Amino acid sequence: MSYVSVDNLVKKYGEFTAVDHISFNVKKGEIFGLLGPNGAGKSTTLNVITTLTDFDKGEVVVDGRDIRQDKKSIKQLIGMVPQDIAIYNHLTAYENVKFFASLYGLRGSKFTKNVTEALEFVGLSDKIKAKPRKMSGGMRRRLNIACGIAHDPQLIVMDEPTVGVDAQSREHILNSIRLLRDRGATVIYTSHYMQEVEEICDRIAILDKGKMIACGTEPELVSMVTDVMSVYVETKIPLGFDREAFCKKTKLMPGVKGIIAEDSLIRVDISIEQNSIERIIQEFINYELPINNIKSEVPNLDTLFLTLTGRELR
Ligand SMILES: Nc1ncnc2c1ncn2[C@@H]1O[C@H](COP(=O)(O)OP(=O)(O)O)[C@@H](O)[C@H]1O
Ligand SMILES: [Mg+2]
Repeated sequence: MSYVSVDNLVKKYGEFTAVDHISFNVKKGEIFGLLGPNGAGKSTTLNVITTLTDFDKGEVVVDGRDIRQDKKSIKQLIGMVPQDIAIYNHLTAYENVKFFASLYGLRGSKFTKNVTEALEFVGLSDKIKAKPRKMSGGMRRRLNIACGIAHDPQLIVMDEPTVGVDAQSREHILNSIRLLRDRGATVIYTSHYMQEVEEICDRIAILDKGKMIACGTEPELVSMVTDVMSVYVETKIPLGFDREAFCKKTKLMPGVKGIIAEDSLIRVDISIEQNSIERIIQEFINYELPINNIKSEVPNLDTLFLTLTGRELR
């Protein structure tokens, strides 16, 4: 059964369509990922689901209730971890979590226990008296998460919660999200990092320019491009070389799905079946581009994104 259902959602800012007929369902107890580059419409979609933003068309149902009709009660089910860290610098870590928990309506005997547990959960037990300005970026991100989960929400919505954090905090955050799911929460998670989404999400919707271009489990999505291989050629591009013309011509070769040239690294996504690797190498030789190194990679979500959009997921 779906816990969140988004059907043909459209959100416009003036004439500009930020979310363009997006539909997906989130099952109870899963981590659902929205993956896409900046500007894809991830935050806008989350803001609609959390009732922070109005929308123009479509239907959004959370826990069986239409969010337009039941805004207040739906708000209480949700914990939002916003993309821009929203914590108060003049309050301690404990006071911050307490403040947000009370905003969400947490009261009574559970209050102190939940606030303490939320800080423990994000690994900030020894920082309860610290003020955010004394914390590292990763700690502030973790505090931001504690503020969104202390009231035990059934639906946790996290908008790029790992941006700008060190590897250790990142691991901690990803593990915490898994744990929240294992405890029964439903999580909607956005990121522009393919690896993270692959690592923690049960199902993934890929967004680009306001549209949903694919949706499924990671194996389902990757199976759409199993006949594709990414070939990375390290070369030395001579001065005055017309990179654009080279890419344009190579892209038109049989079996080539996409090409991206960045400095001395050229990535060509090719069809395995058409044995196009030889032709690509020949093309480098024809253009007198040296091949200093060559490696290939099995398809992943990035390959799918390049195949569907012609661009890299960034
Ligand atoms: N308040 C706003 N007013 C006008 N345009 C906006 C506003 N918020 C977002 N946008 C635009 O909508 C598009 C989607 O934005 P957003 O949902 O923030 O994408 P993402 O979170 O995937 O980076 C972007 O082109 C962005 O510039
Ligand atoms: Mg965003």
